Amino acid sequence: MANLIVLGAQWGDEGKGKIVDLFSDRFDIVARYQGGHNAGHTVWIGEQKYVLKLIPSGILRPGKLAVIGNGVVIDPKALIEEITTLEKLGIDVRSQLRISNRAHVILPFHRMVERISEDSPDKAIGTTSRGIGPAYEDKIGRRGIRIADLIDRATFTELYTPLQKDKRTIAAAFGIEKMDDNVLDEYLSYAEKLAPMVCDTAALLHNAMNGGKRILLEGAQGTMLDVDHGTYPYVTSSSAASGGAATGTGIPPTRISGIIGVSKAYITRVGAGPFPSEDHGDRGEAIRKAGNEYGSVTGRPRRCGWFDVPLLQYTAMVNGFDSLIVTKLDVLDALDEVPVCVAYKINGKTVTEMPASQGELAKVEPVYEMLPGWHTPTFGIDSLDALPERARAYLRFLEERTGVEVGSVSTGPERNQTLVVPGSKLARLLG
Ligand code: GDP
Ligand code: IMO
Ligand code: MG
Repeated sequence: MANLIVLGAQWGDEGKGKIVDLFSDRFDIVARYQGGHNAGHTVWIGEQKYVLKLIPSGILRPGKLAVIGNGVVIDPKALIEEITTLEKLGIDVRSQLRISNRAHVILPFHRMVERISEDSPDKAIGTTSRGIGPAYEDKIGRRGIRIADLIDRATFTELYTPLQKDKRTIAAAFGIEKMDDNVLDEYLSYAEKLAPMVCDTAALLHNAMNGGKRILLEGAQGTMLDVDHGTYPYVTSSSAASGGAATGTGIPPTRISGIIGVSKAYITRVGAGPFPSEDHGDRGEAIRKAGNEYGSVTGRPRRCGWFDVPLLQYTAMVNGFDSLIVTKLDVLDALDEVPVCVAYKINGKTVTEMPASQGELAKVEPVYEMLPGWHTPTFGIDSLDALPERARAYLRFLEERTGVEVGSVSTGPERNQTLVVPGSKLARLLG
């Protein structure tokens, strides 16, 4: 039975939440493998909007298990808030959610450490200010606190004090006098609430697979925000690319049968960092408006630009995409012509590899080809045949240039505003 990964092929916000929710009816379990509540995955079911941050989108399907894997960093307070919001909407979170005992905990002083670097103009990344980076720093620095130790009163008390001491030293060095760090009792109370959902999720996933169950792995952020493969240092602090799905859940790569990339028909980015195909002009603004491109977590306007072929070729390479899902095609409906970035040049010379150095990335000049617009509404179209010929030509162009099949197209935020290409590899993998 095919376990699949669905992940972002660009800089995040590609529409992963919608896609995971849509496909989750064919799976038994949906698992998140990295990131934290920096993610904002929007799902519309009829008139109801859900924005999932830490909890996998599969939670919205009654009876399905949603797993927060060991690679995720969890702010217990944020998780409890998210659980409460979903419960108010009638979702049986407590029976559907399982939380890895090996996931790391975000504590309030992680946000303080993040503020110190974000307040410094030469270091700012434009993060979501959720404490994600500093929590992963403590994980890699081998001083972090894991969920298993949070829910064990004695161990948490023992581990918290030295970590608090460390952070107080940092605060003092940066002239911060007051720290919001007397939170031991508060976090012990969160631990009590979460404990019934905590388990060894790797063992749970293996037992499920051995029993013939199918797992859908939900990526957060996008490949260009991956700490190794993205536009470092303007990245998040986790492994968003497909490799992270194995380390972040304990599912071996050999048990993953398909890797599906999600990409907008154009591209966006939130926060700082290089963005070769960014459009600073009226057309970029028009896309922001038509696509409602404002962050679902922070409300920040997203930077908008054009589909970037070299970037997609690169993310297809490091992830091993079997198929690509192109979302928000409808947002381009009104354009006379659609620019596509087809190559990168630096100092007039075509670049064949994604530049790694910050200096080179800053110098990239995008080369565009113009494709004719289709000037016909595609909103809500759910079959390939019903798309205007020029929109189909646009999709064929993306397919030919990236070398990855377009297995599905999304034409609106709702479940039924999607088409899966008959006979595609994606259709076969979905079964
Ligand atoms: P994610 O983080 O990858 O899950 O994406 P976000 O939820 O942050 O951003 C995607 C936004 O686009 C959400 O508001 C979705 O409801 C919306 N969306 C998803 N697919 C489509 C689509 O095909 N067309 C339109 N117009 N909106 C879409
Ligand atoms: P989803 O899952 C878009 C960006 C931030 C910032 C950088 C580092 O909804 O696609 P962080 O708080 O993670 O340390 O910030 O990463 N970022 C995202 N951008 N979508 C996301 O998630 C993001 N999560 C983080 O804007 O540039
Ligand atoms: Mg998002």
